[in-house]
Amino acid sequence: MLRASTIRYTTSLGGITPEMLSGFFVGWPNPPSAETHLCILQRSSFVVLAIDQEATRVIGFITAISDGIMSAYITLLEVLPDHQRKGIGTELLTRMLAQFEKLYMVDTICDDELRPFYSQFGMQPSTGMRVRNYERQSGVVEPET
Ligand SMILES: CC(C)(COP(=O)(O)OP(=O)(O)OC[C@H]1O[C@@H](n2cnc3c(N)ncnc32)[C@H](O)[C@@H]1OP(=O)(O)O)[C@@H](O)C(=O)NCCC(=O)NCCS
Repeated sequence: MLRASTIRYTTSLGGITPEMLSGFFVGWPNPPSAETHLCILQRSSFVVLAIDQEATRVIGFITAISDGIMSAYITLLEVLPDHQRKGIGTELLTRMLAQFEKLYMVDTICDDELRPFYSQFGMQPSTGMRVRNYERQSGVVEPET
């Protein structure tokens, strides 16, 4: 079992390579590549990573987009299966929410089964609407304008 002391949490992407990002998007039929995953991290407004310092790999991450004024949306949160239920997801979300203390609204969409997880942070069930374009699930990295 991984000791908590070997896990480092960071908001920096310095030194993060695609090789350190394997194993995520479990169960996605058409997942982003590790290279695209890194682009997603780079283009998110906010990111927190959990890094296993011994294995030099990312074992959990959370991303959000925000206007920095009023609202933020948590886009992705995942902990690698072997490292789940050890408090890593809690730490990632806690650190992300701490950055949003001055905002009015922080939203995310989750499956019903995850409501207990988010409720622990004072988040309340709401109704969302969504579009999913599954041919694009792996992500399309266009040059930034
Ligand atoms: C959701 C997820 C990020 C949680 O990360 P984690 O590190 O396993 O969570 P924690 O160890 O911090 O969990 C703390 C508590 O939250 C609750 N919890 C965690 N995962 C849960 C789940 N899948 N369903 C219901 N409650 C959950 C439990 O009460 C847990 O405490 P316990 O382990 O003592 O029972 C992780 O399960 C994951 O990556 N799942 C797959 C991807 C996913 O669903 N992401 C969320 C998209 S909205």
